[in-house]
Amino acid sequence: MSEMKEAIEQVLSELNELKCSTQKEVEQARIHFLGKKGSVTALFDEFRTVAPELKREFGQRLNEIKKIATAKIEEMKTAVGETSVKGASGEDLSMPGDAFPLGSRHPVSIVRQQIVDIFRKVGYTVAEGPEIEDDWHVFEALNFPPNHPAREMQDTFFISNGHLNPLLLRTHTSSVQVRTMETQPLPIRVVCPGRVFRNEAISARAHCIFHQVEGLYIDENVTFADLKQAILMFAREMFGPDAEIRMRPSYFPFTEPSSEVDVSCNICHGKGCNICKGTGWLEIMGCGMVDPNVLEASGIDSKKYSGFAFGMGVERIAMLKWQVNDLRHYFENDLRFLEEFSTATEV
Ligand code: DAH
Repeated sequence: MSEMKEAIEQVLSELNELKCSTQKEVEQARIHFLGKKGSVTALFDEFRTVAPELKREFGQRLNEIKKIATAKIEEMKTAVGETSVKGASGEDLSMPGDAFPLGSRHPVSIVRQQIVDIFRKVGYTVAEGPEIEDDWHVFEALNFPPNHPAREMQDTFFISNGHLNPLLLRTHTSSVQVRTMETQPLPIRVVCPGRVFRNEAISARAHCIFHQVEGLYIDENVTFADLKQAILMFAREMFGPDAEIRMRPSYFPFTEPSSEVDVSCNICHGKGCNICKGTGWLEIMGCGMVDPNVLEASGIDSKKYSGFAFGMGVERIAMLKWQVNDLRHYFENDLRFLEEFSTATEV
């Protein structure tokens, strides 16, 4: 057993003298002592041959040595520190890297998704249509009279003008209502999110590209009361359980009667502030009962079926929800603005 004692002394004195100045040396030392073929490991191998009456004494000793070796390696690791892994030209390879900032959803995408999810919860499905549309789906089938101002070049981007059914960039997502009525079986319950285009000068309140969500519900016996309830449900999901709505008579060619919807101001709670211009109300959408002419244009029997429709601007809802007072922020992609929404919750 004296051989083993010697080996133990040898390992101990080596451990005592151990000095490392780089991480690499520490790793080599770890392998030398504690690796599969390391000297401490070898002692444990030899332990098997120790006579039974000595096993207790040697066993304790070996465990101590293993502890000492592990502690020593750890101590060396800390002593050489993180900074000692040098690259070919001496640079510190152990420096932590610069983390890439994580991207996040654009606020307009977040709100569009929230709007869609609110309606999906109560059974609406999502329908989409083309951004390049024809006159029929954007105007004609929606009961726009031939000389309606929306059809003029000042308002609409036309792509081809030379024939009876010109191509244009859709000015609203109501075109998807028409496509849905033309192709889907009744009853219909859809929301149609999408990008729309208008020939407008860019300002704090207007842009030539923006987003809308259109809604359409057609079945037997659908009434204005159903429309009110759907919109109240939406307003409370989007702006909080205390939100109230009011409906003002309005006009759209494709609905009769038509209405504009205001929601109670979520900032001053109706008292009047500069966001709601002292009125306590914020306009959020247009809506109405689908005009029988529109149903008939898409081949739906207006005597049997009725329906409601609504349309809202996604940027407008986002502006009201987050009190952003300039629409242009949503299009400039300034990271300082976008990062404000990186923790915004999605429903
Ligand atoms: N299409 C209208 C717009 O772009 C919004 C709208 C109003 C849609 C009333 C509707 C509606 O479905 O019923 O301003």
